[in-house]
Amino acid sequence: MSKKPLILGIESSCDETAASIITENNQGNPMVLSNVISSQVDVHKEFGGVVPELAARSHLEKIDWIVKKAIDDSGIKIDEIDAVASTAGPGLVVCLSVGLSFGKAFATSLDKPFIAVNHLEGHALSPKLNLELNYPYLLLLISGGHSQYLSVKNLNKYKRLGTTIDDAIGEAFDKTAKLLGVEFPGGPQIEILAKKGDPNKYSLPKPIFNKGGCNLSFAGLKTAILKITKKIKTDQEKFDLAASFQKTIIEILYKKTKMAFKEFENQIKPEEKKFVVAGGVAANKEIRKMLINLCEEEGYKSIFPPIELCGDNAAMIAMVGLEKFKLKQFDNLDYPAKPRWPLDEDAAFLKGAGVKL
Ligand code: KG4
Ligand code: ZN
Repeated sequence: MSKKPLILGIESSCDETAASIITENNQGNPMVLSNVISSQVDVHKEFGGVVPELAARSHLEKIDWIVKKAIDDSGIKIDEIDAVASTAGPGLVVCLSVGLSFGKAFATSLDKPFIAVNHLEGHALSPKLNLELNYPYLLLLISGGHSQYLSVKNLNKYKRLGTTIDDAIGEAFDKTAKLLGVEFPGGPQIEILAKKGDPNKYSLPKPIFNKGGCNLSFAGLKTAILKITKKIKTDQEKFDLAASFQKTIIEILYKKTKMAFKEFENQIKPEEKKFVVAGGVAANKEIRKMLINLCEEEGYKSIFPPIELCGDNAAMIAMVGLEKFKLKQFDNLDYPAKPRWPLDEDAAFLKGAGVKL
């Protein structure tokens, strides 16, 4: 029997330092042997957001022992590793550079191939770590930096159907949390506060709800919340605002996802309709519930990574590394860190002031 590939994945694009070893089982399905994540929440808490310089320093301090722990936890020997895959973008260059340089040096010292991975492709492929998932599928990627609908036709073959024209959904959650006085990172806290609130208490705007295809916009929502927070006094009002905010996000996603289904079907004509939801915000249980129901209504199979693989991790980076390794798609050691690296390179840049839809 031929040796199963053993891939080391490294992630350092933002505020998580992570390393993972994955392989394949006898059926050819991916298997996670170790998955080590060290979050920097405590480093950035007092600043209310990620401070790039501090994040990079923290990655530098931790990367060696995180990789060592991933190898130790997996039970393999260092020289059994077949390839090293590091996130090369998108993200903060000072942060990316740590994992990227470490990965290149590690691969060189083992005389094994190096693979540069797009962090977003890691999220896109993350459900494959737990279940068999063949191309094509529709992807909703909802994280702190991105909110996009994409047709995933194959490895490295994406067609963007819609994107946010301003804030990402995770960003909207985090900003709302900050306005409500919740500590960074606030997204998961909003979900907890919302449980105690009345979702119908506040009526919030739904920017570009009836135009712009399945593009998204959340900046107007944040402005409306800012106005309301100036008037609220009690905890109950805070809970109500968190619940109303989450409900508004869910209504926007319901409508835009329905539109994305239609576009996906027109474009791909898939034999089996599959909808993958990935990225940090995919951990939100109310959003999951709504999307699962919508999939049932529309004849889609709904696919979510397990909660622990929704946020940033290195197993998803190793997953992309594994697919590229099998196709012998290796990268050179001069591969740069890319702050911007869209999955669909042909899609128009739609962010910033002046975007008209
Ligand atoms: O994918 P991720 O870990 O990092 C990026 O690549 O951005 O996503 C982090 C984002 C943050 O904005 C965080 O607040 C949000 O995901 N998030 C949530 C939840 N858990 C994480 N937002 C809403 N509800 C949650 N349960
Ligand atoms: Zn991410």
